[in-house]
Amino acid sequence: MKDNLDREINYMRISLTDRCNLRCSYCMPSGYNNFFKEEEVLTLEEIYTVAKIGSELGINKFRFTGGEPLVREGIEELIKKVKGLPGVNEVAITTNGILLPEKIKTLKENGLDRVNISLDSFREDRFKNITHNGDVKKVLKAIDMAIEYGIEVSLNVVIVKGKNQDEIMDFVRFSEDKGIKVRFIEIMPIGKGKDFIGMTSGEIEEVIKEERTYIEEETRKSNLRGPALYKSFYNESKGKTSTIGFISPISNCFCSDCNRIRLTCDGFLKQCLHWNSGTDLRAILRGEKTYEEAKMIIKDTIYNKPTHHNFGEKKNNVDIRFMSQIGG
Ligand code: 5AD
Ligand code: SF4
Repeated sequence: MKDNLDREINYMRISLTDRCNLRCSYCMPSGYNNFFKEEEVLTLEEIYTVAKIGSELGINKFRFTGGEPLVREGIEELIKKVKGLPGVNEVAITTNGILLPEKIKTLKENGLDRVNISLDSFREDRFKNITHNGDVKKVLKAIDMAIEYGIEVSLNVVIVKGKNQDEIMDFVRFSEDKGIKVRFIEIMPIGKGKDFIGMTSGEIEEVIKEERTYIEEETRKSNLRGPALYKSFYNESKGKTSTIGFISPISNCFCSDCNRIRLTCDGFLKQCLHWNSGTDLRAILRGEKTYEEAKMIIKDTIYNKPTHHNFGEKKNNVDIRFMSQIGG
């Protein structure tokens, strides 16, 4: 469906949980344990109802996020049901990959099309340090298995100054060797993200251009709608091309192109990543409203999406929660 600014909204991101099996330093404080109570989190049945209504309103792409979506029991079945909704042509997850090797077979059978895997370092000790004890070997295995199963894989990488900026070219080489997209995400001033200085897309691009040739033509072909600006780079010595995405919510506002709406795990239908405006669907789903009434409310929420985010401005009604609570 179209919103009030004539943007086609066809993509819903659903956070299944605010819990995670890692503690990335820019996301959650290391001892963090202040999660939603079980009864505050939408049941899988409630989530399915919202997805069904969404699909009837023209949402054809769903992505499950977290926290870490794979720690939510029942995700396999939910994916199957959502993929089976009329009109839905893509179901994806954003995951840290730790639990993916053990779940991937069922996920693939149930219709999972795409995974975005978060990985900030290839080095075992550094990965442990960033994630507070994660095992990078599991993530690398997850990537290989996803490729093997024919699931489309992209990597999400956050570069933090003084932490992993020396690995930028390792990620470019990884993209060349595995044939997968690597997307550098600028750190957002959300939750713990405020305590870190990230590298901007421009700075990362400069590093890559020192060793690779930028290919303008390929770049033009590879840009689809969405927040990432993809650029292609050629490695002359290997004869290989990499596709690198740059996600710059701060320096490059992509709001005029926004096609998405988000559901937090506690049932808030969020109109924009940054603003706290939206609708408490949990109250509606658990209250007296009929299915048709809930549908009208969801339609209104989508229709009234704000014009743009306001990273960089200081306002009172912005969302001050952690990324894991909002759902990336
Ligand atoms: N800024 C940018 N990205 C973040 N992520 C988590 N917190 C932040 C933040 N403050 C990223 C993770 C993962 C994705 C789900 O969100 O690295 O790739
Ligand atoms: Fe977990 Fe993702 Fe947050 Fe890391 S960034 S702690 S993997 S939710």
